[in-house]
Amino acid sequence: MTRNFLTGEEFGAFELGKLLERAAELKAGRRAGVGTDSLAGRSVALIFERPSTRTRISFEVGVVQLGAHPVVLRGDEMQISRGESIGDTARVLSRFVDAIVIRSGSHEAVAELAEAADVPVVNGLTPLHHPCQALADLLTMRERFGELDGLRLAYVGDGNNVARSLAILGELAGVEVVVAAPDGYQLEEGHGVKLSADPRAAAAGADALYTDVWVSMGDEAEADRRRSDLAPFRLDGDLLAAAKDGAIVLHCLPAHPGEEITADVLYGESSAVWGQAENRLHAQKALLETLLVP
Ligand code: CP
Ligand code: NVA
Repeated sequence: MTRNFLTGEEFGAFELGKLLERAAELKAGRRAGVGTDSLAGRSVALIFERPSTRTRISFEVGVVQLGAHPVVLRGDEMQISRGESIGDTARVLSRFVDAIVIRSGSHEAVAELAEAADVPVVNGLTPLHHPCQALADLLTMRERFGELDGLRLAYVGDGNNVARSLAILGELAGVEVVVAAPDGYQLEEGHGVKLSADPRAAAAGADALYTDVWVSMGDEAEADRRRSDLAPFRLDGDLLAAAKDGAIVLHCLPAHPGEEITADVLYGESSAVWGQAENRLHAQKALLETLLVP
């Protein structure tokens, strides 16, 4: 059966644990060539309808490192931009490639693509979900703390796609996820997530503090209002001091130092964000193996 990775809800706890273990193995063995022929002879389409630095590069490099061929496509260079349907695009791509990764401004469009495709579809970010990011985030916490079960992650700021994916995949991994956001920006209930309006209360006892941009792709028209509403939820040194000793700071990037996170915290010794960005590569390689290698 074709498997997708659109929200993270497609996986169980055991499978997620195996995926993260394999990601760590691929990372540790990268110089020794671990995984270099896992996907030999395969092709993966990487469609980007919105800008990307990390997702695009980590997938392209990761596909090559697994021995497969990446076909990187911008939405505006495909016939989809001239009205070809998503379903027909999915049916045709399924005849050429073994998997499709897509970043889109519409989660519904990605779901429609997956419905019509005969090959696995991976969500490379929609306004609702960013599950590949959450895989790298969990891998980063696993590296720092060993066991994920029982850790506490406090997400402060906009209850957006990144927060939602952390809630879904965090629950699977046994991580307690607390989201602190102002009225109008809070995540919905579900997946065992705890919701708070108080960033300090959320940070108390946290092993990891996490934030994301205040103006996501597609939110540009309300940028000023967002910056003003979210200002009390900035991740700064005071908030970090409220977390556990040894807590790490995570950010999916791109960051806006001085806005959602202060520069001293982003570049400080508690910051794990650069390793977190690197982990996109290792986690997604393990994801592609999980989806494509029986
Ligand atoms: N974190 C993340 O997805 O980064 P990009 O938008 O650069 O891919
Ligand atoms: N929430 C951000 C994440 C960027 C990686 C956005 O959707 O733009």
